[in-house]
Amino acid sequence: MSSAIALFGSSRRHGNTGQFMDDIAAASGIEVVDLGQLRISPYDYNHRNRDDDFEPLMKRVLDVDHIIIASPVYWYSVSPPVKVFLDRISDYLDIPELLADGRRLRGKSGYIVCTSIYESAPTSFAGALTETFGYLGMQFGGMAHANCREGYSRSRHESGIAAFTRLINAPCPST
Ligand SMILES: Cc1cc2nc3c(=O)[nH]c(=O)nc-3n(C[C@H](O)[C@H](O)[C@H](O)COP(=O)(O)O)c2cc1C
Repeated sequence: MSSAIALFGSSRRHGNTGQFMDDIAAASGIEVVDLGQLRISPYDYNHRNRDDDFEPLMKRVLDVDHIIIASPVYWYSVSPPVKVFLDRISDYLDIPELLADGRRLRGKSGYIVCTSIYESAPTSFAGALTETFGYLGMQFGGMAHANCREGYSRSRHESGIAAFTRLINAPCPST
């Protein structure tokens, strides 16, 4: 059976993205990790931050098949906690003892859950994430986007929640 984890970052835990992600998680039984609650410091070329919460989180991430990145669109891009998380993945490409674990990202599926105030997420936002998945050898599994111009409402975004839940619960092609 496949497994999933959602890595969520927003400037408010129970704002639009948090509610959207929580509704998806409730429907599909996915654990949501609030990156803002963890102590993950920005990328350091000298790796003087290896004692923070990043590597323990990555151990959990490397144990699942589906990795969901959940973020609002802030200035065409991801939220700061999500950006810090993505930058820190470079540790798994740089640090010799982490390289083998980094290669375990290959073949996993990456998904996007996001909110903005338009009908769809900007291409810069989605592109940065899909290109990152591709660089890491991951497949892009799909995206759920909610237009929150009028705020978030479960009833208005019900079909998106259901579609994404079907997607994430679909059997892996390799199993
Ligand atoms: C700092 C900031 C930048 C934003 N930039 C964009 C943007 O570039 N494009 C967009 O469609 N919405 C933008 N928005 C609107 C948010 O994407 C939208 O309100 C989102 O649902 C907020 O989610 P949250 O409640 O999790 O923060 C921005 C909001 C903020 C606070």
